[in-house]
Amino acid sequence: MPASAGMFILMQTDSRPVTSNQTGPHPHLAEMVARHAQHPFRKPLSPFGEQPFDHAINAWRSHGGSLIIDAGCGVGLSTRRLAQQFTDAFIIGIDQSANRLQRHTRWEGAEPSNYITVRAELVDFWQRMALARIRPSRHYLLYPNPWPKKAQLQRRWHGHSIFPTILRLGGHLECRSNWKIYIDEMASALTQLTGLDVPAEAWHVDPAAALTPFEQKYAASGHSLWRCAIELPSSD
Ligand SMILES: C[S@@+](CC[C@H](N)C(=O)[O-])C[C@H]1O[C@@H](n2cnc3c(N)ncnc32)[C@H](O)[C@@H]1O
Repeated sequence: MPASAGMFILMQTDSRPVTSNQTGPHPHLAEMVARHAQHPFRKPLSPFGEQPFDHAINAWRSHGGSLIIDAGCGVGLSTRRLAQQFTDAFIIGIDQSANRLQRHTRWEGAEPSNYITVRAELVDFWQRMALARIRPSRHYLLYPNPWPKKAQLQRRWHGHSIFPTILRLGGHLECRSNWKIYIDEMASALTQLTGLDVPAEAWHVDPAAALTPFEQKYAASGHSLWRCAIELPSSD
């Protein structure tokens, strides 16, 4: 019997909750977010980023429809599921791990034609999107690496200097995590830069209905899950 995505994931039900030397949102978060918003992101583009970017964007343009980004898509199961959910859109799943992207061969059912996964570095991909003025209709940051040590704030997406660029892309931006502090910080940073009220919400999900392998693993392990989402104002 072929292994299904559900079988593949449900084996993992003993994942440990995030531990951190932070007990609440980082005390320097607002200062860091403000500093990044004042200074345009200037890192040079990587020559390795051009081919995967062009490949993914050309695939979207050939297909047509609105664009959905699945940032840090891991094995790409969420990208595939988003493609099944948003049939009028084209989904690009991006991950830097070739190992994870290559594991997506065992899924059952008809393969949707409206998605692609691509190996690329997100900061470079987001920069290229901003330069090309490509605007996603929806943008998912699903269970990003939490970087839970206090000294790692700048590695969390809301503490990273690319954060204002992500916001300028616009669209429905949604982040989910099993670390409440990550979502509290993300919601606070979104509110700080947009002036909009962004609640951090408990996210109750049946493991069988989870969107991603990490979501399924955490839900099956009994973790509390958290989410925040915003409709970003257009920057043009
Ligand atoms: C915790 S996993 C979550 C994967 C998936 N979203 C899920 O929920 O199952 C985080 C993923 O983000 C990817 N990632 C982290 N930083 C990245 C970066 N700078 N560029 C591209 N991918 C990145 C990792 O390779 C990893 O697959």
